Amino acid sequence: MSNRKMLYAGTFDPITNGHIDVIRRGSALCSELVVGVLNNLSKKPLFTVDERKEMIRVSTAGMGNVRIDSFDGLLADYVNRNGIDVVLRGLRASMDFEYEMQMAQMNARLYDDGVETVFLMTDPALSFLSSSIVKEVFVMGGNVNDLVPSGVLALMKNKSQK
Ligand code: COA
Repeated sequence: MSNRKMLYAGTFDPITNGHIDVIRRGSALCSELVVGVLNNLSKKPLFTVDERKEMIRVSTAGMGNVRIDSFDGLLADYVNRNGIDVVLRGLRASMDFEYEMQMAQMNARLYDDGVETVFLMTDPALSFLSSSIVKEVFVMGGNVNDLVPSGVLALMKNKSQK
């Protein structure tokens, strides 16, 4: 897969250490990993797309082949328009499996020929994590220090003080 262009898409509101684990391992499997931030209004994000991109930028600064982009609309349209070869997904627990299978099978009908979805099992120590749970604990004053990169925590604190 080394000369392949890979996409890891999500809402990333905010990016967590679980996502970073998937990005680090995925980036070793391809020539370029695009982290695609979905402008997903249905999730009522706490952070703007630009804030989320900045959080990802500070967290992936040492990863040379990682690029950050954002998109609206169908994932498959982005994939086909941008010459993506592989779509990367992280599987946290068995509860993710059915949803991921449905999405991968629907997307497979929409992708150009040859595009594949690849799954990585996430770090078991972080399999309970989601962006929503981080936001809920943070907004209520709980400690999320070990759950998001330190640069992300600083940006979250900065926003909450505004
Ligand atoms: N570590 C920690 N958390 C993780 C994780 C990991 N490795 N993998 C997923 N999560 C969390 C996410 O943060 C998210 O948390 P939240 O619900 O609290 O925000 C949750 O698990 C679900 O993740 P995911 O399924 O990746 O949702 P998402 O909103 O981040 O991304 C898209 C989903 C972008 C891939 C999908 O909605 C999409 O493709 N949308 C475009 C529209 C489209 O094409 N629809 C048709 C699809 S067939």
